Amino acid sequence: MTLTARRAPFFRRGRRIRRSPVLRRLVRETRLDPAMLVLPIFIDARLDAPAPIASLRGHMRWPVAAAVDIARQAAAAGIGGLLLFGLPETKDEQGLGAADPLGPVPLALRAIRADVPELALIADVCLCEYTSHGHCGQLLPDGTIDNDATLPVLAEAACVYAAAGADVIAPSDMMDGRVAAIRHGLDGAGHHETAILSYAAKYASAFYGPFRDAADCAPQFGDRSGYQLDRANGREALLELDADAAEGADMLMVKPAGPYLDVIAAARARSALPIAAYQVSGEFASLVAASERGWLDLRSAGLESLIGIARAGADVIITYFALDAAAWLSEDPR
Ligand code: PBG
Repeated sequence: MTLTARRAPFFRRGRRIRRSPVLRRLVRETRLDPAMLVLPIFIDARLDAPAPIASLRGHMRWPVAAAVDIARQAAAAGIGGLLLFGLPETKDEQGLGAADPLGPVPLALRAIRADVPELALIADVCLCEYTSHGHCGQLLPDGTIDNDATLPVLAEAACVYAAAGADVIAPSDMMDGRVAAIRHGLDGAGHHETAILSYAAKYASAFYGPFRDAADCAPQFGDRSGYQLDRANGREALLELDADAAEGADMLMVKPAGPYLDVIAAARARSALPIAAYQVSGEFASLVAASERGWLDLRSAGLESLIGIARAGADVIITYFALDAAAWLSEDPR
């Protein structure tokens, strides 16, 4: 040891393992893999040709007949799965169209199942796209939600989607008891193998704005704060996660993702179940809009937003960046 080395005050040279791409890659703690990404898609029973969604650049509403096209693209990109939403021909007060075996989601599931075996097919279950009032459950005469009357409709929709080939049922309605009702319904109909990914900690968020345009499901009166979680509450999310796990959920979701990274980390620490996070429409659209103004680089910011969600503890990320990210990662893995 030289005199200088002995006398120099010690400080840690953290930059030693940061100084080259090779070392940074070696010690990277979190990696994104296209296989962990899920693409949300919208199947619209009223369309003959794909229609661009203005608020979600690069995304379309797909006619049933073209569902296979987007599924093939997703499979070729190597992403893990699709999350299907449906826009029905007509809506009604009870949202019964959610359980129509000839509705857009079951028809698309059948077509994709037969043609594209390499994707996990996840069917969103909720009434808001199917009710004339746009709420996620059935209504009592006073306009409040009838939680318990909604459960059988959700369970029936789940059975229809399972029969059409869904691997996973993802209830996003936030009714109490829906995971148990859906599990009971699926098992009763012989769908023991169909898994449930529950939107366990779903917050009443302003970031759903672009989705409500895409899926045409904005509530016609009031808002969803009577059933979705209050933005300020973290402990309450733990109660929801625990309840859904106890009711039989196979995977748990936190939604939105970016503003709720603490909840993702808490979910990861609390449960050994796979944790999914949904980077929602407004998270995607705000990055796209800023990039259109030249204010940030979409590729870099998009991947940063995803790695942050993975670092917080998500195993699965549902994101409108899924196809872009798969392409970005194939050019430059991280
Ligand atoms: C409701 C549902 C919503 C989203 C997924 N499922 C909207 C809502 O609760 O208002 C939002 C997804 C997004 O913003 O990307 N069934």
